[in-house]
Parts: sequence; structure tokens; C-alpha cells
Amino acid sequence: MELLLSMIIAKIFCTVNADLSLERYFCKLEKLDAQSCKHVAGIRGYSKLSENEETITSNLFGKILDDENLNSGDIREPEPLGTITLPETISPLNPVSIEEIGNKIRFLNAEQKIYNLEKYGPVNEKTCVIVIQVHSRVAYLNQLVTSLSRMRNVENSLIIFSHDLYLPELNEAIRKIDFARIMQIFYPHSIQLNPNRFPGPSPDDCPRDLNPTKAKEIKCRNADHPDIYGHYREAAFPQTKHHWWWKGNFVFRNLNVLQNYTGVIAFLEEDYYVTPDFLWVLKLMEDAMMRNLCHGCNLLSLGTYLSPKKLNYSQAVVTNWVSTEHNMAMTFNKTLWEKLTRCAQTFCEFDDYNWDWTLFQVSNTCLESKLEVLYPKAARVYHIGDCGLHHKMTKNCDSKKAAEAIDKGIKQYSSFLFPDNIRIDYLKGNKMFPKKGNGGWGDLRDRELCMSFVQ
Ligand SMILES: *[C@@H]1O[C@H](CO)[C@@H](O)[C@H](O)[C@H]1NC(C)=O
Ligand SMILES: *[C@@H]1O[C@H](CO)[C@@H](O)[C@H](O)[C@H]1NC(C)=O
Ligand SMILES: *[C@@H]1O[C@H](CO)[C@@H](O)[C@H](O)[C@H]1NC(C)=O
Repeated sequence: MELLLSMIIAKIFCTVNADLSLERYFCKLEKLDAQSCKHVAGIRGYSKLSENEETITSNLFGKILDDENLNSGDIREPEPLGTITLPETISPLNPVSIEEIGNKIRFLNAEQKIYNLEKYGPVNEKTCVIVIQVHSRVAYLNQLVTSLSRMRNVENSLIIFSHDLYLPELNEAIRKIDFARIMQIFYPHSIQLNPNRFPGPSPDDCPRDLNPTKAKEIKCRNADHPDIYGHYREAAFPQTKHHWWWKGNFVFRNLNVLQNYTGVIAFLEEDYYVTPDFLWVLKLMEDAMMRNLCHGCNLLSLGTYLSPKKLNYSQAVVTNWVSTEHNMAMTFNKTLWEKLTRCAQTFCEFDDYNWDWTLFQVSNTCLESKLEVLYPKAARVYHIGDCGLHHKMTKNCDSKKAAEAIDKGIKQYSSFLFPDNIRIDYLKGNKMFPKKGNGGWGDLRDRELCMSFVQ
């Protein structure tokens, strides 16, 4: 059983042996040589979690979901987005389309239309809200949507797609999804809409590798603001962090339908894949959090990079949040978001283009009480797109194959899914701090744009 699972995990992680330490795993993902790995690991402080300190038991049997409202979890048709394929590179828009799309986006973000409301009824306090950050990896998104369609209780959810690309074919396909309430929102400061000006690349920007002394001589625009490693802004890098920050603010503060919503919201990415009991386990964990059975944890993460050896589908762990370990399907409520926005300055000024690494800085240096995460030992969400992002696409990293590998695992372990209750272990985590950011966020314009989302 363990062997099969490690094979599955190894497949998901493409080339990585499941026994690798976190440090080696991430260094391999990012293709770092031994020396850079040591450096980065020093900054990030990867290491194994220590032993259990204390164990508490949460008996949540039968309290969580009303069985009569659940669907049967039948396997549905795959490819819910059809067979749309986008070109490798998305061609730049002309000024007329930029204006047109800009107007559409403003309209759509104000309209906040929810599809399938007639079918599933209005959103209320019991609705499960899921937000997916979408860029362009439609093949992966297709797999994610398939997996969402197979979740038990999906008809009780509102699924919000947050885009930083306006792609008519993709929009059309998403609006046809019929198994849940669906909404789309659009990040308004995308590179797509600003191909020749900030936040896109501007002709008078300093080139990334220009020496700062030289930059000041030729007086390129951001000469005074290289990042901590002496590099100038590259437009493609900051967008994901901007989008993440904008999306959180938009969803928690600007969405009319969630004005009075106090529940948690789960944040996914386009290349994730969920298990059929994702919402079930999320509810168990949310209930444990709200009943204060998790040592004061303040967020949930439904995924984990834990070695599969200790898997038990009805156990969860509380520990201090570490960005590189607990960044999958982070789930929390408006109360926590408001606390994060009070640290906007820390978030927007930390010189790191990764939102999760930045959040770690916020947790360690600004929040009154640090982030404490509750996560299931056996992941209920997988990052199947790791391969495409960090490796050359290979057959092993095909989105369909990755999804099939997980489906196989799900089938194998189906009798362990939908646990009646979860046991919560308390794990005293390592006391690591990010001493330094990874750079890519030195430009003042990024800091200002970031701050503008909370003003
Ligand atoms: C939120 O609550 C206020 C006050 O009770 C109410 O007027 C408003 O209609 C509610 N909004 C939504 C979207 O339910
Ligand atoms: C949000 O969650 C925290 C626990 O993470 C809880 O203490 C707080 O009461 C929740 N806020 C609301 C408005 O329910
Ligand atoms: C998993 O954990 C639960 C709760 O601690 C325990 O009752 C159960 O026996 C464990 N299952 C396996 C297969 O070890």
C-alpha cells in the first residue's frame, strides 16, 4: 500500500523520489545546483517537522453534513471545458481590443453574475466558496474542473474563477459548467491589458541584468530600484503575487453576494486536482477550527507534501504555517483576511515575487499571532502542474496522466475517504524565519500597485 502510494506521488512529482527531503525536493523542482540549493535552503530553512508534542481528539461524527443533501458522487464525463486549446503564446492585443476588453472587465467585475443560480438557489451561509486563480494552463484547468465535478456536495458550492487573461473561448467554456454556481472575476491590471506599459514591460524600463551604476548613467526608468540581488523588474514575475493579493481583496471585500458571508473560502490554482471528499474534509476541518479544537489554528490547507509513509485518511495535523509546506488550497475566513490587510505594507514591500513566501514574512514579522495551519495527513488536493511549471514538459508530466495517477490512488483508497471524524495531532514545527526575500519585487511601482488594492 505504501509502495503504490509512493509510486503515485513520485509520478505526480515527475522525477522526484518520494523519500527526498523537502529541501532536495524544492531544489530539484527549481533546478538549483548544490551550492544555490544550500543558499536557498538557508534562506528558507527547509527541514523536517519534529515529533508530536501532544494529541487531541476531535469527535465530529455525524454533525457535519446532512446526508440527504449529498449527491451520489457518480463519475461524470471528463473534459468539462471541452477541447479548447490555446496557442502556445497568446498574441498581444491591439489598442482597440485593449480598450474593449478593459471595459468588459470593468463591467463584469461590477456585474458579478452568478451562473446556475436558478438551478442551485441563492448563496447562503452554508455555501462552500472556492476561488481558483487562472492563468493559461487550460489542459490542467480541465482536469481540475473534472475533479471538482466529482466532489460530493459540489452542488452546494460557489466556484469563482479569477483570471489574469481574458480569453473568450475559455470564458465561454467556463460559463457552460453546470454542476455548481459559477462566477468569473478578472484581475484588471494584467500584462495582457498593458503590453507596453507598467504593469507590463515598458520600453524605458531598465533591462534585468543591467548594472545599477550603468542604469543610473543611462537614466532608465527604475534605475534606483533594483531588487536585493541587483536585478531590475521583469514584468512576468510580479503578476502572480499581484493577482493573488487583488483577488483576496476583491473576494472578501467587494463581492456583493459574500457581503455577509462569515464562512471560509478555499483558494485553489488552475493546476490542482481535488479528491471527491475535498469539501467533506474541509467541513470537518472548518468545524474543528470554529470549535477551537485545533490549538488556535487560523487557517486550513487541504494539501501537504508530507512523505506518504504516515498516511492516515482520518488524521490531521496542526502546526505553525510554513509557506513552502502548506501553500496548497489555503482556506480561511474574512477575519484572517482583514488581519492580513492590516499588514499590507509588509506584504507589499517585502522583496519577493512569491505570494506564499511573502505571506510567511507577514506571518513572522507583522501578524499579532502567527499563522497556525490545520492540514490533513493524506492530501485532499494535489498540485499536478508542478511538472509543467518547473520542468520541460515530458510525457510523465502530461496533465491527463497526472490526473489518472491520482484517480488510481483515489480508487485504491476509496474506503478511507469521507472519514466520520478526524483526529488532530499537534506538531511543534521548526522555528524558521525568512531572513531575506527571493527578489523580483524591488520596483516601487509594484509596491504602490500592491498597496492600491487595499486602499
Ligand atoms: C447583508 O445584511 C444586510 C443587513 O442585514 C442586508 O441588508 C443585506 O441585504 C445583506 N446582503 C446580502 C447580499 O445578503
Ligand atoms: C474566522 O475564523 C477564526 C478562526 O480561524 C475564528 O476565530 C473567527 O471567529 C472566524 N470569524 C468569523 C467572522 O466567523
Ligand atoms: C487512522 O487514524 C484513526 C484515528 O487516529 C485510527 O482510529 C485508525 O485506526 C487509523 N487507521 C489506520 C489504517 O491506521
